[in-house]
Amino acid sequence: MTTQTPPLTARPAWRALEDHYQAIRDVHLRTLFAEDPGRGERLTAEAAGVFLDYSKNRVTDETIRLLVSLAEECGLRQRIDAMFSGEKINLTERRAVLHVALRAPKGQSILVDGEDVVPAVHDVLARMSAFCESVRGGARRGYTGRRIRNVVNVGIGGSDLGPVMAYEALKHYSDRSMTFRFVSNVDGTDFVEATRDLDPAETLFIISSKTFTTLETMTNARSAREWTLRALGDERAIAKHFIAVSTNAKEVTAFGIDTANMFGFWDWVGGRYSMDSAIGVSTLLAIGPEQFQRMLAGFHAVDEHFRTAPLARNLPVLLGLLAIWYNNFFGAQTIAVLPYDQYLKRFPAYLQQLTMESNGKHVTLDGTPVDYQTGPIYWGEPGTNGQHSFYQLIHQGTRLIPCDFIGFARSLNPLGSHHDLLVASLLAQTEALAFGKTAEEVKAEGTPDWLAPHRTFEGNRPTNTILAEQLTPETLGKLVALYEHSVFTQGAIWQIDSFDQWGVELGKELAGRIIPELTGTAEPSLAHDSSTNALIRRYRAMRG
Ligand code: F6P
Repeated sequence: MTTQTPPLTARPAWRALEDHYQAIRDVHLRTLFAEDPGRGERLTAEAAGVFLDYSKNRVTDETIRLLVSLAEECGLRQRIDAMFSGEKINLTERRAVLHVALRAPKGQSILVDGEDVVPAVHDVLARMSAFCESVRGGARRGYTGRRIRNVVNVGIGGSDLGPVMAYEALKHYSDRSMTFRFVSNVDGTDFVEATRDLDPAETLFIISSKTFTTLETMTNARSAREWTLRALGDERAIAKHFIAVSTNAKEVTAFGIDTANMFGFWDWVGGRYSMDSAIGVSTLLAIGPEQFQRMLAGFHAVDEHFRTAPLARNLPVLLGLLAIWYNNFFGAQTIAVLPYDQYLKRFPAYLQQLTMESNGKHVTLDGTPVDYQTGPIYWGEPGTNGQHSFYQLIHQGTRLIPCDFIGFARSLNPLGSHHDLLVASLLAQTEALAFGKTAEEVKAEGTPDWLAPHRTFEGNRPTNTILAEQLTPETLGKLVALYEHSVFTQGAIWQIDSFDQWGVELGKELAGRIIPELTGTAEPSLAHDSSTNALIRRYRAMRG
């Protein structure tokens, strides 16, 4: 891949967007809505049962037209086709990027190096389903013959965030007679607290690691092994209480897990894109094969929409382009994702890895430093909790924070008027953010002059509203795919590799050097900078 010719910031559409930004930067959403009564109906798009209202953005039809031109000039359509056809678009790792194959229906064919990968995906799914049915149904039991009631997923990053997010999101559909826990941090507290009330005879550990070399996961896996052996006293118990999910059969065997108890996946599945692979086995155990299939169908519906819909009506493309608009033209640094559904409480954390590990890059595909901003910071909390904490800054602070509000028409737990209150809050927030409250309006309510500035809301804060009928496994799949492909869209325009993560390596490497300096008994000879050296000495002295 060569540098774009011309470079991104010299492209006609980019230049036109810069000029257009000058024309639009001071235009208020109040004006845009007043001048165009049909705006709220028109600036919307719908696909696969997901509705997107993007009318409360600081855009006009012209903005969307120019953003779409930018996407076309950057070859977004060709990049999408390249991904779906199994080209090795992860250039720095020379890998195809085929999470879409994980949810491709039987019969579809996707080739990598001339081999159709879809049958293998379905083989693993069938094995996972059979295994999960046998655990859920009680046929597969623990070493002492007791039923498996507890499942502990041990993994980190993509081998944890997808599983824990999906478990929390789909708890309503889960087998409530089973307990699910997720251990990720190398901090022993995570393991101890997750297992303290569990009976080892009834506990299954899923060691989830694409590489099976990750320090945190391997450390927790060894502790899990000791915890199990301490209670069950026999190495043969390991086969009954441990399964592995990995691409690395050699390391799985070296760890002591029989590959008969391993579920594999492939190097063309990135960690942060792996929740539909065998990494999702905890999800499958929780909700069962049928619901898992529904989740995959949801993903696939949005994959197909992304692959085929015109760019201007394409939900993930629109979300990605709007992110570019604020990030690169308005200079916004963050995007808040605010799900109005308690079950989605881990969704922002999941999105943080998806978006920031993917697009936190400083060079283009050919290694040229970028001269524009890339991945924005994604963050968020479920509504309404965030309203009583950080929304103040979004409403009246000095920064521009575009927000995605996510809501559902029907609650999974209807309770009095709770759901209407929840949705009223969502709608009220987007209205308040867009239109604000002028000083005149504030004063007309009797507010004294000195207080009016404090009570004035500037408004003009952009939001997307994403609505779906209900949080089902299918809807969850659609939502995740929406963001996956929005990330793809952004990365394609920035011409970066959204599928590698070299930025995590240096810290791992240095930790490898520091570990023996902390754990050795002899005073180490230290060759770090003066701060790190002094901190290591202080830690050793304090620890005693
Ligand atoms: O350190 C980052 C990372 O490589 C992520 O990309 C990945 O999801 C996570 O670590 C876990 O890796 P693994 O599944 O190989 O243990």
